[in-house]
Amino acid sequence: MCGIVGYVGTTNDGTALDVVMEGLARLEYRGYDSAGVALLDGDHVETRKKSGKLANLTAELEARPLPASTTGIGHTRWATHGGPTDQNAHPHRGGKDGKLALIHNGIIENFHALKQGLLADGVEFASETDTEVVAHLVAAAYEQHRDLTTAMRAVVADLEGAFTLLAIHADQPDVVVGARRNSPLVVGLGENANYLGSDVAAFIGHTRHALELAQDQIVTITPEGATVVNFDGTPAEGKAYEVTWDAAAAEKGGYATFMEKEINDQPHAVRDTLLGRTDPEGRLILDELRISEEQLRNVDRITIVACGTAAYAGMTAKYAIEHWTRIPVEVSLAHEFRYCDPIVNERTLVVSISQSGETMDTLMAVKHARELGALTISICNTHGSTIPRESDAVLYTHAGPEIAVASTKAFLAQITASYVLGLYLAQLRGGSFADDAQSVMKELAGVPAKIETLLAQMGRVKEIAKFMADTRSVLFLGRHVGYPVAMEGALKLKELAYIHAEGFAAGELKHGPIALIEPGQPVFVVVPSPTSEHGLHGKVVSNIQEIRARGARTLVIAEEGDEAVEPFADEVIRVPATSPLLAPLLTVVPLQVFALWLSTAKGLDVDQPRNLAKSVTVE
Ligand code: F6R
Repeated sequence: MCGIVGYVGTTNDGTALDVVMEGLARLEYRGYDSAGVALLDGDHVETRKKSGKLANLTAELEARPLPASTTGIGHTRWATHGGPTDQNAHPHRGGKDGKLALIHNGIIENFHALKQGLLADGVEFASETDTEVVAHLVAAAYEQHRDLTTAMRAVVADLEGAFTLLAIHADQPDVVVGARRNSPLVVGLGENANYLGSDVAAFIGHTRHALELAQDQIVTITPEGATVVNFDGTPAEGKAYEVTWDAAAAEKGGYATFMEKEINDQPHAVRDTLLGRTDPEGRLILDELRISEEQLRNVDRITIVACGTAAYAGMTAKYAIEHWTRIPVEVSLAHEFRYCDPIVNERTLVVSISQSGETMDTLMAVKHARELGALTISICNTHGSTIPRESDAVLYTHAGPEIAVASTKAFLAQITASYVLGLYLAQLRGGSFADDAQSVMKELAGVPAKIETLLAQMGRVKEIAKFMADTRSVLFLGRHVGYPVAMEGALKLKELAYIHAEGFAAGELKHGPIALIEPGQPVFVVVPSPTSEHGLHGKVVSNIQEIRARGARTLVIAEEGDEAVEPFADEVIRVPATSPLLAPLLTVVPLQVFALWLSTAKGLDVDQPRNLAKSVTVE
């Protein structure tokens, strides 16, 4: 939530404004309530800020241009304190002369008490934000220390909550200072130019050399380099790494929206997530886990913590991991985990799943699990992010940057990585499924080609979506691994098309929700493979008949060759045949495509749905 960019360099690298605006365009998915920039111009700071999307700021900059500069900061906001107005947009100015400009991601929990102190000193406020309080505090500290890094260090000591802060000061040209606690900040290292960003997308157009910061650190960038200190003033060093993708990966690549591109990227996301995880004999090797085999063999309970789509990936994984390892798996929404007095000890493996690696709810769950002595593994898509850093080990998904706010390719990559983890545990523990690990991995390796086939036949789903543009409510049913897929389908539709949508376990229908069925009610049904155990397929086919008998319009997702669904389906959407546990990697695709095109048909912003932001860094 909130995108942050900082730049200092030479004019050879383009003006500060160009670099900062390019960074903001790439980070807009993190928040789009307002945007603003501040540049150093001689002995003063110039700011421009505007509520609404970045386009409004661009228009403002055309109407009131800014001078060329080599030092600047920029911000896209997801509002917390104070509405999405021009006044509350960042950057905020500090001090009587307004020589300091500051931007912020996160929440300062003790801002009210700090504000009272400033008000008592006669400070006047121009906004309702917690950020402006910090701007005034840093400006006052600067008057005392005459050094922006020292001033920042003095102030962060008094702040409670989660924050990334960036500041520039007119009296200290060619310097941007950043501070982070429980909120993302990465450094980009260029030639005679350096960068700060909420994530590497902020500077990927300029450099792929990055520096990861730890918690409670302050970084000072100048054109020559980056210096890191801990909040207590002791020197520190960031961890250098190379970003594995380039600017083209963060662009639409000819598609109209990022979401459409990312849906079509899914074969790569699955394929790349499987890469390098088996030896030539097909045995799983996860050296990267940095947890001893002994510790993993000792695990007697697994808890998955995640939110939203990532939690549905976790629910899918529960079925597979329990089946393969016979270890009980619980899935806990990360924001509930801490408050349910979780039963966790040193034999519990807590697996967090997060695309961004910055979701505050998930981060806090991981920290809590570690306090309770659990082993923690993070399944994450973002190198250098906080959750992997705070975990004992990480298993990266390799989906590439996900820019559309609604998650698609990350979901498939998360299921893939958690299956890899489950199979690895099965292999380690021996038992009846240890030998199956290799054959399942082989089958997984064939899934990307099946997704490609499926994507090539989505024309009818697009037509159905367009035809349903005026629909007010859609239900989704599934059983077993089809149940989380049904919930994911409903979530996509809610967030993208603002339509009432609900996903149910198909067996639950007769316990209440069937009362919702009235003539014409559209219901998607995710049908399990006819090869599923325990007569699952037949039960879902009966569920379709039950709702059809009550007038529902049935949109059935079924395997190629499954003729049993034909008599009861108004529409059949075919997916390639696969073994039941792998089916979610296919059955969710038509639901993503449906939500994309229904939203498009309604004329909505597919990539930036209202009220949302990618990367939820507040609790
Ligand atoms: C929905 C969606 C969200 C995220 C959730 C967790 O399309 O994107 O539900 O899945 O906010 O985000 P991460 O995976 O970054 O922790």
